[in-house]
Amino acid sequence: MPPLPVSDLKTTFGGKPVQKPAYPPLERDDIRGPCPGLNTLASHGYLPSNGVASPSQIINAVQEAFNMESGTARFVTYAAHLVDGNLVTDLLSIGGKTSKTGPNPPAPASVGGLNTHAVFEGDSSMTRADFFFGDNHSLNETLFKQFIDFSNRFGGGFYNLTVAQELRHQRVQESIATNPTFNFTAPRFFTAFAESSFPIEFFVDGRNPVRGLSIANATLFFKESKFPVDFFRAAAPTGGSLALDIFSAYPIAAGRNVNGINTYTPDPTSADFDKQCLLYSNFVTKTVVLRRNLIINLGFFFDAIENSGCTELFPYGKL
Ligand code: HEM
Ligand code: MG
Repeated sequence: MPPLPVSDLKTTFGGKPVQKPAYPPLERDDIRGPCPGLNTLASHGYLPSNGVASPSQIINAVQEAFNMESGTARFVTYAAHLVDGNLVTDLLSIGGKTSKTGPNPPAPASVGGLNTHAVFEGDSSMTRADFFFGDNHSLNETLFKQFIDFSNRFGGGFYNLTVAQELRHQRVQESIATNPTFNFTAPRFFTAFAESSFPIEFFVDGRNPVRGLSIANATLFFKESKFPVDFFRAAAPTGGSLALDIFSAYPIAAGRNVNGINTYTPDPTSADFDKQCLLYSNFVTKTVVLRRNLIINLGFFFDAIENSGCTELFPYGKL
Protein backbone atom coordinates (compact mmCIF):
# COMPACT_ATOMS: atom_id res chain seq x y z
CA MET A 1 0.00 0.00 0.00
CA PRO A 2 1.56 3.34 -1.04
CA PRO A 3 1.93 6.43 1.15
CA LEU A 4 -1.47 7.96 1.71
CA PRO A 5 -2.64 11.13 3.37
CA VAL A 6 -4.23 9.73 6.50
CA SER A 7 -6.74 12.56 6.68
CA ASP A 8 -8.25 11.46 3.35
CA LEU A 9 -8.62 7.80 4.16
CA LYS A 10 -11.91 6.08 4.65
CA THR A 11 -12.52 3.03 6.71
CA THR A 12 -15.44 0.80 7.57
CA PHE A 13 -16.82 -0.59 10.78
CA GLY A 14 -19.58 -3.15 10.95
CA GLY A 15 -20.06 -2.87 7.19
CA LYS A 16 -20.97 0.82 7.45
CA PRO A 17 -18.63 3.15 5.55
CA VAL A 18 -17.59 6.13 7.63
CA GLN A 19 -15.46 9.13 6.79
CA LYS A 20 -12.59 9.31 9.26
CA PRO A 21 -13.94 11.63 11.92
CA ALA A 22 -11.90 14.68 12.76
CA TYR A 23 -11.03 13.77 16.31
CA PRO A 24 -14.39 13.86 18.09
CA PRO A 25 -14.25 14.63 21.81
CA LEU A 26 -13.92 11.63 24.09
CA GLU A 27 -17.11 10.29 25.61
CA ARG A 28 -16.97 9.81 29.36
CA ASP A 29 -16.45 6.05 29.21
CA ASP A 30 -14.26 5.86 26.09
CA ILE A 31 -11.25 3.70 26.91
CA ARG A 32 -7.65 4.61 26.17
CA GLY A 33 -4.56 2.76 27.37
CA PRO A 34 -0.79 2.27 27.29
CA CYS A 35 -0.39 2.31 23.47
CA PRO A 36 -0.25 5.75 21.86
CA GLY A 37 -0.71 4.16 18.40
CA LEU A 38 -3.99 2.42 19.21
CA ASN A 39 -5.21 5.38 21.31
CA THR A 40 -4.76 7.64 18.27
CA LEU A 41 -6.56 5.21 15.98
CA ALA A 42 -9.51 5.06 18.36
CA SER A 43 -9.64 8.82 18.74
CA HIS A 44 -9.81 9.27 14.96
CA GLY A 45 -12.33 6.54 14.24
CA TYR A 46 -9.99 4.00 12.69
CA LEU A 47 -10.99 1.91 15.69
CA PRO A 48 -14.29 2.19 17.54
CA SER A 49 -13.98 5.31 19.64
CA ASN A 50 -15.02 3.47 22.81
CA GLY A 51 -11.66 1.66 22.69
CA VAL A 52 -13.02 -1.87 22.27
CA ALA A 53 -12.16 -3.63 19.01
CA SER A 54 -11.79 -7.01 17.36
CA PRO A 55 -8.37 -8.27 16.24
CA SER A 56 -9.32 -7.84 12.58
CA GLN A 57 -10.37 -4.23 13.17
CA ILE A 58 -7.00 -3.56 14.83
CA ILE A 59 -5.01 -5.33 12.12
CA ASN A 60 -6.83 -3.38 9.39
CA ALA A 61 -6.51 -0.07 11.20
CA VAL A 62 -2.76 -0.26 11.89
CA GLN A 63 -2.13 -1.13 8.25
CA GLU A 64 -4.48 1.47 6.84
CA ALA A 65 -3.38 4.42 8.94
CA PHE A 66 0.25 3.60 9.84
CA ASN A 67 1.27 1.09 7.15
CA MET A 68 2.33 -1.44 9.77
CA GLU A 69 3.66 -4.51 8.00
CA SER A 70 1.03 -7.26 7.97
CA GLY A 71 3.07 -9.94 9.80
CA THR A 72 3.97 -7.55 12.63
CA ALA A 73 0.38 -6.34 12.86
CA ARG A 74 -0.95 -9.88 13.12
CA PHE A 75 1.72 -11.05 15.58
CA VAL A 76 1.35 -8.10 17.95
CA THR A 77 -2.43 -8.07 17.78
CA TYR A 78 -2.88 -11.77 18.48
CA ALA A 79 -0.21 -11.71 21.20
CA ALA A 80 -2.34 -9.07 22.91
CA HIS A 81 -5.70 -10.64 22.18
CA LEU A 82 -4.70 -14.09 23.45
CA VAL A 83 -3.76 -12.75 26.89
CA ASP A 84 -5.91 -9.62 27.28
CA GLY A 85 -8.95 -10.14 25.05
CA ASN A 86 -12.21 -12.05 25.14
CA LEU A 87 -11.69 -15.08 22.91
CA VAL A 88 -15.40 -15.88 22.91
CA THR A 89 -16.76 -12.48 21.79
CA ASP A 90 -13.54 -11.67 19.86
CA LEU A 91 -13.24 -8.25 21.50
CA LEU A 92 -10.24 -6.56 23.13
CA SER A 93 -10.08 -3.41 25.24
CA ILE A 94 -7.15 -1.13 24.33
CA GLY A 95 -7.05 -0.05 27.99
CA GLY A 96 -8.70 -1.28 31.16
CA LYS A 97 -11.10 -4.10 31.81
CA THR A 98 -14.65 -3.39 30.66
CA SER A 99 -17.99 -5.14 30.36
CA LYS A 100 -18.02 -3.96 26.73
CA THR A 101 -15.93 -6.98 25.78
CA GLY A 102 -18.93 -9.12 26.75
CA PRO A 103 -19.55 -11.76 29.40
CA ASN A 104 -16.36 -13.06 30.96
CA PRO A 105 -15.29 -16.59 30.13
CA PRO A 106 -14.42 -18.61 33.24
CA ALA A 107 -11.09 -18.05 35.04
CA PRO A 108 -8.17 -18.17 34.44
CA ALA A 109 -9.07 -16.02 31.40
CA SER A 110 -8.75 -12.48 32.73
CA VAL A 111 -9.94 -10.45 29.71
CA GLY A 112 -8.24 -7.52 31.41
CA GLY A 113 -7.49 -5.33 28.38
CA LEU A 114 -4.10 -3.95 27.36
CA ASN A 115 -3.54 -2.35 30.78
CA THR A 116 -3.07 -5.81 32.31
CA HIS A 117 0.46 -5.99 33.61
CA ALA A 118 3.08 -8.63 32.78
CA VAL A 119 1.36 -10.46 29.96
CA PHE A 120 1.89 -7.85 27.24
CA GLU A 121 2.21 -4.48 28.98
CA GLY A 122 5.50 -4.41 30.78
CA ASP A 123 8.16 -2.45 32.63
CA SER A 124 10.44 0.38 31.51
CA SER A 125 8.02 1.98 29.05
CA MET A 126 9.19 5.29 27.67
CA THR A 127 6.22 7.41 28.73
CA ARG A 128 4.33 5.22 31.18
CA ALA A 129 5.46 4.29 34.71
CA ASP A 130 6.19 0.74 35.83
CA PHE A 131 3.21 -1.13 37.28
CA PHE A 132 5.02 -1.26 40.65
CA PHE A 133 4.55 2.52 40.97
CA GLY A 134 0.80 2.41 40.34
CA ASP A 135 -0.42 3.69 36.97
CA ASN A 136 1.10 1.65 34.12
CA HIS A 137 -1.06 3.08 31.33
CA SER A 138 -1.55 6.86 31.51
CA LEU A 139 1.01 9.23 30.08
CA ASN A 140 3.41 10.15 32.89
CA GLU A 141 4.40 13.83 32.72
CA THR A 142 7.84 13.29 34.26
CA LEU A 143 8.67 10.53 31.81
CA PHE A 144 7.36 12.54 28.87
CA LYS A 145 9.59 15.46 29.95
CA GLN A 146 12.49 13.00 29.89
CA PHE A 147 11.43 11.89 26.38
CA ILE A 148 11.59 15.54 25.25
CA ASP A 149 14.83 16.17 27.11
CA PHE A 150 16.50 13.18 25.43
CA SER A 151 15.14 14.25 22.02
CA ASN A 152 16.73 17.67 22.57
CA ARG A 153 20.03 16.38 23.95
CA PHE A 154 20.65 13.48 21.57
CA GLY A 155 18.46 14.28 18.54
CA GLY A 156 18.56 18.05 18.11
CA GLY A 157 14.87 18.32 18.95
CA PHE A 158 13.78 15.09 17.23
CA TYR A 159 13.20 11.54 18.49
CA ASN A 160 15.47 9.53 16.20
CA LEU A 161 17.47 6.29 16.35
CA THR A 162 20.16 7.74 18.66
CA VAL A 163 17.52 9.03 21.04
CA ALA A 164 15.70 5.69 20.96
CA GLN A 165 18.95 3.91 21.89
CA GLU A 166 19.79 6.30 24.73
CA LEU A 167 16.28 6.47 26.14
CA ARG A 168 15.74 2.71 26.07
CA HIS A 169 18.98 2.23 27.99
CA GLN A 170 18.04 4.97 30.45
CA ARG A 171 14.60 3.50 31.15
CA VAL A 172 16.06 0.02 31.74
CA GLN A 173 18.67 1.44 34.12
CA GLU A 174 15.98 3.41 35.97
CA SER A 175 13.83 0.33 36.41
CA ILE A 176 16.78 -1.73 37.64
CA ALA A 177 17.62 0.98 40.19
CA THR A 178 14.09 1.80 41.41
CA ASN A 179 11.66 -1.06 40.73
CA PRO A 180 12.21 -4.11 42.96
CA THR A 181 9.86 -6.13 40.75
CA PHE A 182 11.47 -5.09 37.47
CA ASN A 183 10.95 -7.79 34.87
CA PHE A 184 12.65 -7.60 31.50
CA THR A 185 12.10 -11.12 30.19
CA ALA A 186 10.20 -12.09 27.03
CA PRO A 187 7.77 -11.02 25.77
CA ARG A 188 8.57 -7.61 27.36
CA PHE A 189 12.21 -7.95 26.34
CA PHE A 190 11.13 -7.77 22.68
CA THR A 191 8.21 -5.36 22.92
CA ALA A 192 10.37 -2.80 24.74
CA PHE A 193 12.88 -2.58 21.88
CA ALA A 194 10.19 -2.78 19.20
CA GLU A 195 8.07 -0.05 20.78
CA SER A 196 11.10 2.22 21.07
CA SER A 197 11.34 2.01 17.29
CA PHE A 198 7.63 2.64 16.61
CA PRO A 199 7.66 6.45 16.99
CA ILE A 200 10.38 6.61 14.30
CA GLU A 201 8.74 4.09 12.02
CA PHE A 202 5.10 5.15 12.35
CA PHE A 203 4.77 8.63 13.83
CA VAL A 204 7.09 10.34 11.32
CA ASP A 205 5.32 11.63 8.21
CA GLY A 206 5.82 9.18 5.31
CA ARG A 207 6.98 11.96 2.98
CA ASN A 208 9.82 12.93 5.33
CA PRO A 209 13.13 11.28 4.32
CA VAL A 210 14.65 12.17 7.72
CA ARG A 211 13.58 9.63 10.31
CA GLY A 212 13.08 11.96 13.24
CA LEU A 213 9.87 12.77 15.13
CA SER A 214 9.40 16.40 16.11
CA ILE A 215 8.51 17.17 19.70
CA ALA A 216 5.33 18.89 18.51
CA ASN A 217 4.14 15.74 16.74
CA ALA A 218 5.32 13.46 19.56
CA THR A 219 3.20 15.57 21.89
CA LEU A 220 0.16 15.10 19.64
CA PHE A 221 0.52 11.32 19.41
CA PHE A 222 1.64 10.54 22.97
CA LYS A 223 -0.33 13.13 24.94
CA GLU A 224 -3.37 13.92 22.85
CA SER A 225 -3.79 10.67 20.86
CA LYS A 226 -4.10 12.84 17.78
CA PHE A 227 -2.77 12.73 14.21
CA PRO A 228 -0.96 15.87 13.06
CA VAL A 229 -2.87 17.80 10.38
CA ASP A 230 -2.00 16.67 6.82
CA PHE A 231 -0.25 13.50 8.01
CA PHE A 232 0.97 10.84 5.57
CA ARG A 233 1.49 7.34 6.85
CA ALA A 234 4.84 5.46 6.43
CA ALA A 235 5.80 5.16 2.77
CA ALA A 236 6.35 1.40 2.91
CA PRO A 237 5.04 -1.35 5.18
CA THR A 238 7.27 -1.47 8.24
CA GLY A 239 7.34 -2.97 11.71
CA GLY A 240 10.01 -3.14 14.35
CA SER A 241 12.92 -3.22 11.89
CA LEU A 242 14.96 -0.84 14.08
CA ALA A 243 14.49 -2.91 17.25
CA LEU A 244 17.78 -4.77 16.82
CA ASP A 245 19.66 -1.49 16.18
CA ILE A 246 18.26 -0.12 19.42
CA PHE A 247 19.19 -3.28 21.34
CA SER A 248 22.71 -3.35 19.84
CA ALA A 249 23.66 0.08 21.22
CA TYR A 250 23.42 -1.21 24.82
CA PRO A 251 23.04 -4.99 24.67
CA ILE A 252 21.56 -6.52 27.81
CA ALA A 253 20.53 -10.07 28.66
CA ALA A 254 16.86 -10.71 29.32
CA GLY A 255 16.36 -10.90 33.07
CA ARG A 256 14.80 -9.39 36.19
CA ASN A 257 15.51 -7.92 39.61
CA VAL A 258 15.48 -11.11 41.67
CA ASN A 259 15.86 -9.68 45.17
CA GLY A 260 14.92 -6.03 45.26
CA ILE A 261 16.40 -3.07 43.42
CA ASN A 262 19.77 -3.39 41.73
CA THR A 263 19.66 -7.19 41.67
CA TYR A 264 19.22 -7.58 37.92
CA THR A 265 20.00 -11.17 36.98
CA PRO A 266 19.91 -12.69 33.49
CA ASP A 267 17.26 -15.35 32.94
CA PRO A 268 18.56 -17.89 30.41
CA THR A 269 15.11 -19.43 30.06
CA SER A 270 13.79 -16.24 28.49
CA ALA A 271 13.74 -15.67 24.76
CA ASP A 272 16.10 -13.00 23.46
CA PHE A 273 17.41 -11.87 20.09
CA ASP A 274 19.52 -15.05 19.76
CA LYS A 275 16.62 -17.32 20.72
CA GLN A 276 13.67 -15.79 18.93
CA CYS A 277 11.67 -19.01 18.53
CA LEU A 278 11.57 -19.22 22.32
CA LEU A 279 9.45 -16.08 22.21
CA TYR A 280 6.81 -18.03 20.38
CA SER A 281 7.13 -21.22 22.42
CA ASN A 282 7.37 -19.43 25.80
CA PHE A 283 4.33 -17.43 24.89
CA VAL A 284 2.26 -20.40 23.83
CA THR A 285 3.28 -22.61 26.72
CA LYS A 286 3.76 -20.14 29.60
CA THR A 287 2.24 -16.74 29.00
CA VAL A 288 -1.08 -18.03 27.78
CA VAL A 289 -2.16 -19.50 31.08
CA LEU A 290 -5.41 -20.67 29.59
CA ARG A 291 -3.82 -23.66 27.88
CA ARG A 292 -1.76 -24.55 30.95
CA ASN A 293 -4.83 -24.45 33.14
CA LEU A 294 -6.87 -26.34 30.62
CA ILE A 295 -4.32 -29.16 30.71
CA ILE A 296 -4.21 -29.13 34.52
CA ASN A 297 -7.97 -29.18 34.77
CA LEU A 298 -8.30 -31.93 32.18
CA GLY A 299 -5.84 -33.84 34.38
CA PHE A 300 -8.09 -33.37 37.44
CA PHE A 301 -11.05 -34.43 35.30
CA PHE A 302 -9.27 -37.62 34.30
CA ASP A 303 -8.07 -38.29 37.88
CA ALA A 304 -11.68 -38.67 38.87
CA ILE A 305 -12.21 -41.56 36.47
CA GLU A 306 -8.69 -42.95 36.50
CA ASN A 307 -9.82 -46.40 37.69
CA SER A 308 -12.43 -46.82 34.99
CA GLY A 309 -9.99 -48.19 32.43
CA CYS A 310 -10.18 -45.14 30.14
CA THR A 311 -7.05 -43.93 28.35
CA GLU A 312 -6.03 -40.39 29.23
CA LEU A 313 -6.09 -38.10 26.20
CA PHE A 314 -3.80 -35.08 25.65
CA PRO A 315 -5.44 -33.09 22.86
CA TYR A 316 -3.74 -29.89 24.09
CA GLY A 317 -0.34 -31.46 24.86
CA LYS A 318 1.32 -32.12 28.21
CA LEU A 319 2.98 -29.69 30.61
C1 HEM B 1 3.10 0.44 23.63
C2 HEM B 1 -0.17 -2.78 22.11
C3 HEM B 1 0.32 -1.16 17.58
C4 HEM B 1 3.06 2.44 19.25
C5 HEM B 1 2.15 -0.56 23.61
C6 HEM B 1 1.73 -1.32 24.75
C7 HEM B 1 0.81 -2.21 24.34
C8 HEM B 1 0.66 -2.04 22.92
C9 HEM B 1 0.09 -3.24 25.21
C10 HEM B 1 2.23 -1.11 26.19
C11 HEM B 1 3.55 -1.76 26.38
C12 HEM B 1 4.34 -1.04 27.44
O1 HEM B 1 4.92 0.02 27.12
O2 HEM B 1 4.38 -1.50 28.58
C13 HEM B 1 -0.26 -2.67 20.74
C14 HEM B 1 -1.01 -3.55 19.89
C15 HEM B 1 -0.87 -3.12 18.62
C16 HEM B 1 -0.02 -1.93 18.67
C17 HEM B 1 -1.84 -4.74 20.34
C18 HEM B 1 -1.49 -3.77 17.41
C19 HEM B 1 -0.89 -3.84 16.24
C20 HEM B 1 1.03 0.01 17.65
C21 HEM B 1 1.23 0.92 16.55
C22 HEM B 1 2.00 1.94 17.04
C23 HEM B 1 2.28 1.66 18.42
C24 HEM B 1 0.68 0.75 15.13
C25 HEM B 1 2.47 3.16 16.35
C26 HEM B 1 1.84 3.68 15.35
C27 HEM B 1 3.40 2.12 20.54
C28 HEM B 1 4.41 2.83 21.31
C29 HEM B 1 4.43 2.23 22.57
C30 HEM B 1 3.42 1.19 22.55
C31 HEM B 1 5.28 3.98 20.83
C32 HEM B 1 5.37 2.54 23.72
C33 HEM B 1 4.81 3.55 24.67
C34 HEM B 1 5.83 3.86 25.75
O3 HEM B 1 6.85 3.16 25.87
O4 HEM B 1 5.62 4.82 26.49
N1 HEM B 1 1.47 -1.02 22.51
N2 HEM B 1 0.32 -1.71 19.98
N3 HEM B 1 1.66 0.49 18.77
N4 HEM B 1 2.83 1.15 21.32
FE1 HEM B 1 1.49 -0.18 20.66
MG1 MG C 1 4.58 -0.43 30.40
